[in-house]
Amino acid sequence: MESEIKSSYNPPDCSSEIFLSEFLSPIHRQTRHLNLAMGCPGVWARSSWRQVPAGQQPDFQNPEHVASVLNQIRSYPPLVSPGEIRTLRRQLADAEIGRRFLLQGGDCAERFDDCTPSAINQKVSLLLRMGLVLTSGLSRPIIKVGRIAGQYAKPRSFSHESKDGRLVPVFRGDSIHDFDTRQTDPGRLLQAYHAASLTLNYIRSLVAGGFTEVARASEWHTETECSRFENLAASVRNAMQLASAFGATSVAHESREIFASHEGLLLDFEEAMTRDDPETGEPFNLSAHTLWIGERTRTLGGAHVEYFRGIANPVGVKVGAGASPREIAELVKILNPNRERGKLILITRLGAKNVDAELPALIDAVRETRTPVLWCCDPMHGNTVKAMAGLKTRHVDAILAELQSTVAVHSEHNSRLGGVHLEMTGADVTECTGGGVSPEHLPLRFETYCDPRLNGTQSLNFAFELSRLV
Ligand code: PEP
Ligand code: CO
Repeated sequence: MESEIKSSYNPPDCSSEIFLSEFLSPIHRQTRHLNLAMGCPGVWARSSWRQVPAGQQPDFQNPEHVASVLNQIRSYPPLVSPGEIRTLRRQLADAEIGRRFLLQGGDCAERFDDCTPSAINQKVSLLLRMGLVLTSGLSRPIIKVGRIAGQYAKPRSFSHESKDGRLVPVFRGDSIHDFDTRQTDPGRLLQAYHAASLTLNYIRSLVAGGFTEVARASEWHTETECSRFENLAASVRNAMQLASAFGATSVAHESREIFASHEGLLLDFEEAMTRDDPETGEPFNLSAHTLWIGERTRTLGGAHVEYFRGIANPVGVKVGAGASPREIAELVKILNPNRERGKLILITRLGAKNVDAELPALIDAVRETRTPVLWCCDPMHGNTVKAMAGLKTRHVDAILAELQSTVAVHSEHNSRLGGVHLEMTGADVTECTGGGVSPEHLPLRFETYCDPRLNGTQSLNFAFELSRLV
């Protein structure tokens, strides 16, 4: 089946030029720009994105400083390995056919200050707790991917915001500027590399030390209690003890893995972290196992799509309300030209009220491309509303409603939901309403630096609901 699909598809060949950005004449560059702008890819290079417009890039003032920082990053070791990325791709391929399920989640904006053992421990614990609920509820292995170890840059819809009565540049993430002063500094890209590396190193030590094994579920702490989870964990532990008394081997090694992901927004940084696999020559972004393109930067002919189409990692794309099915079909062909399984994740974030009207046409358009994708639901970003004092919030009922409609539409259209993408934290925050948090509670512990996250209890309740629905 796979080879049949591969041989029948010829990617559009709009340009036969050999692309080397440094050597292109202005007229060549213009032709290439035109080709890319029409969605017709030329020859890819890790720097070919530089020839087309790039949205949402930082306005660093000192180009020499930027160049020296990027040189430094290019000289640093990779943060993840091609082998780990291939493992994730195999697991995502399984999720496409219903043999696994993807749980991707974490902060909207990770902070350098989060690089502490307790903060990392709590994030990993929440993924593990939800993973356990879903493994038991869906009866299949859960692929756990954190928005972690690199989620330091944010795309924004507005350039300025009001802070302490003053109009200031909107916060675009720790990679770019200081939250308090909003002073940009290219040196922060180096800090991003280091914070990601420390975070990953600690996660690896937790995995190697056995922390992620189900037998240690009682050590997975978040700031919120959930008796339903404690009961489930106790019965899973009992079942495992019983199974091992019968001589069954312990859970598979792979269920202990935690993968890292972030939005691939800052293309200078992503390019500097793109390295060829010495064994196969394939270009991998070795700053994360998987990266996604945001709703604001997935423009056909734009720099993000150009960069992403060439890397060998599995890649995600956010798809918001109003997306044109034809455009999404084009994107799918560009980002997964060889029609490989485990390569492309379409993350719909349509808003609960738009799913019934918009998802069917998207499913049909993607199906027509005969390209496999993993359908994933982000029930957060399409359901954001402004509450009192201008705080952004989301109601858990709207989040669950989007999940429910998404599951239903997929099954009515002979398709399958293979994962969820959430903004969540194990901290006892009051950022999303519902599940015990009312609008008056919001200011009490509203700690996010960008979008509102589900707290530990709300996240676990979501996992229990998801188990019921899928
Ligand atoms: C995000 O995931 O934080 C985000 C900005 O999402 P989107 O691109 O879907 O708006
Ligand atoms: Co967000």
